[in-house]
Amino acid sequence: MFDLLVLGGGPAGYLAAERAGHAGLSVCCFEMRELGGVCLNEGCVPSKSLLNSAKIYEHALQGEPFGVLAKGIALDHTLVQKRRAKVVQTLVAGVRAKMRANGVTIVREQAVIDGFVPGGVSIRAGDSVYEGKRLLIATGSSPAIPPIPGLAEGLETGFVLTNREVLTLPEVPERLAIIGGGVIGLEMAAYYRAAGSHVSVVEMLDHIAGPTDRELSDLLLSEYKAKGVEFYLGAKVTAIEDGAVRFERAGSAALIGADKALLSIGRRANVHGIGLETIGVELIAAGIPTDAQCRTNVPNVYAAGDVNGQSMLAHTAYREAEVAVNTMLGKKDRMRYHAIPSVIYTSPEVAGVGHTGESAAAEGVAFESRKLSLRYAGRFVAENEGDGLCKVLIDAAHRNIIGVHIIGPYASEMIWGAAQLIETELRVADARELVFPHPTVSEIIREVLFEFDD
Ligand code: NAI
Repeated sequence: MFDLLVLGGGPAGYLAAERAGHAGLSVCCFEMRELGGVCLNEGCVPSKSLLNSAKIYEHALQGEPFGVLAKGIALDHTLVQKRRAKVVQTLVAGVRAKMRANGVTIVREQAVIDGFVPGGVSIRAGDSVYEGKRLLIATGSSPAIPPIPGLAEGLETGFVLTNREVLTLPEVPERLAIIGGGVIGLEMAAYYRAAGSHVSVVEMLDHIAGPTDRELSDLLLSEYKAKGVEFYLGAKVTAIEDGAVRFERAGSAALIGADKALLSIGRRANVHGIGLETIGVELIAAGIPTDAQCRTNVPNVYAAGDVNGQSMLAHTAYREAEVAVNTMLGKKDRMRYHAIPSVIYTSPEVAGVGHTGESAAAEGVAFESRKLSLRYAGRFVAENEGDGLCKVLIDAAHRNIIGVHIIGPYASEMIWGAAQLIETELRVADARELVFPHPTVSEIIREVLFEFDD
């Protein structure tokens, strides 16, 4: 009997297996596809590889003000795809090696929970049954597929793509219609626009980028429009036809022609067909409910990552995996969700952590906010022609930092520091004493802190 069975080899599953193995537990991890899950194979990592090619290409095109006069600049999608495949392969091999180094048994089969056995649970995979004292469910999520007429057929014919297919398209579609202006839609819009597609985004809400601070999402929208991406906001998709996406906006029907359509309207936890009912794991609409230690309602059964529906981000999954394993090991630990950063790796990048103006207002939190253009940071001016924004929110009563939002280059690399200001509940006066390296764009956070009254 294993000490721990891990169902799923994505960020939650593989990290939990690694950490538990490192701590001396005997671990068996089940993965029916590639190790690394959606993040490594068809999400975070391949999309960053594509987006970096787009960034390099755009930098080359915009080199003139910097004295870089390049000729014959082109984005070769085939080479971009080659590199994407190599990057994914390298990192998947890295995950496998690390799991093996920590003594994890890897079973490359579809696995289903089979029921309770004395002292634990059992899992059926292929022709074998495996028993474990504990179980971590880390089965991830899949694209939400709503009952839109023609959608199922579109997915079958290949006219409609999900995050999986859009990352590996062998050719750049002339016209790409994107259904859903959230993270996946926007990241793919950035790449395919740079690669030469005519991109249209159909978004149900009146703004893009979902829960992003509204001021930043409006700036992002302007940047995208300037790049030639077309937006249909407040528009609900009503039907998919071969070669067209129909939608309704302000009471009237409209249609856009497309060569491919990307469906990116959110994801749903993978909770069906994995045998949860055999051990009575509770389910709610968002997924498997868990407590602050990632425990489910069944003793010794944990759920981490997208499957618990708390925050569908790989870095949340990592932390949840650690919390679950620490709890198994009898160490005191708990999940805290209020300072988890989120990033949209578009160009410019958008990164935020903590409250936005909208979420603070909705929760009745009395706050103050200040903002500055990134042009107040010397390095930004030295290296960039455009503009960006940094906005900080503080709790009006306690004067601790409760939100930081940045749009501009390197935002993704700066936001972890901002998250620490929130996680450690630093007040403005304390945070002002921190020294930032100069010249860096991150100094803008410090500058904004000095915009608040003493
Ligand atoms: P999302 O939740 O970010 O965005 C979906 C968008 O689709 C929303 O704006 C929603 O209003 C819109 N929508 C829903 N139904 C619609 C309809 N019928 N017609 C038009 N618009 C409609 O979901 P997305 O982009 O699919 O991403 C899924 C998950 O993957 C997210 O939970 C995200 O956390 C994760 N992810 C994270 C990334 C990152 O951290 N950089 C990158 C990519 C994905």
